[in-house]
Amino acid sequence: MPQRSQLIPWKAAGRISERFASGDDVVRETGWVFNNATGKSLTLAEFVASGDHEVPVYLELFGLRQTGPASSTLTEIGSGIGRMTCALTREFAMVVACDLDAGFLERCHEVVAGYGRADHLRTVQVVDGHTLDVADDSSDVTFSYITLQHCDADDARRLIAEAIRITRPGGRVALNLRLRSTMDIVAMPLGAGIRALFRLPVIGNWLSTRRSVTRLAWQANRVPPVEILQRHGRRLSDVAVWVHPDREAKVAAMVAPVPVRSSVSINTNHWWLVADVGE
Ligand SMILES: C[S@@+](CC[C@H](N)C(=O)[O-])C[C@H]1O[C@@H](n2cnc3c(N)ncnc32)[C@H](O)[C@@H]1O
Repeated sequence: MPQRSQLIPWKAAGRISERFASGDDVVRETGWVFNNATGKSLTLAEFVASGDHEVPVYLELFGLRQTGPASSTLTEIGSGIGRMTCALTREFAMVVACDLDAGFLERCHEVVAGYGRADHLRTVQVVDGHTLDVADDSSDVTFSYITLQHCDADDARRLIAEAIRITRPGGRVALNLRLRSTMDIVAMPLGAGIRALFRLPVIGNWLSTRRSVTRLAWQANRVPPVEILQRHGRRLSDVAVWVHPDREAKVAAMVAPVPVRSSVSINTNHWWLVADVGE
């Protein structure tokens, strides 16, 4: 079966990352696919530090530290090579890092061994892009950052349903997606066109490794908060949609009566579903 075009750039970056022995080289060559940072002097330590800076912000903001005992398990959907996973393994007794690409997950073990708690890490490959090989009700917290926006809409929907399935009753989900913006009128069809080019022999493979092109192509869906709330609202409690303050009024009008909370720490284009999972 041909590979779905949305998965191609991640797999391409995964293959490149496997060519390098040093984590610093991996970050210089492919680190931009995770945090958009580029530069010849980037280091793995700086890369991990960016995750160390962000993780406590989200754990505090979304009340994720209070969810379970010290023995709690967090599942991360879209861990990449472990930029945030390192900090998460210092906070949780077990982190189940899930990602599409096996090469990223292998590197994630190495990165966590250097900067986090390797004894707190398990990795799971998301082979089909939408099924988590993780048991029902086994996660205290299920977290995903800058990943669901990169999945095609059906994969994103299925991964959200999977996040709820694996989270135990009383556990919490914090799932990050992207809001529509006016730029999307041009950017979304352009991205779909570029993804189609990724399928071309030879040139497609080359294109899928170029930052300038890939950045235009990796925004794949804008599944809106209303749809997710309608679909899963009954299984959730203490639900909130979190956005940047600039987006609060508009999103509040869309999702009422679900509360909208805001923080300047949130990217203006992002939204988060934060909720407890019920029985
Ligand atoms: C922008 S990176 C973010 C990685 C990490 N959350 C971070 O902030 O550094 C997106 C990650 O999602 C993974 N990914 C993309 N589509 C996926 C899918 N359908 N299922 C699982 N992982 C996916 C990619 O391989 C990549 O590692």
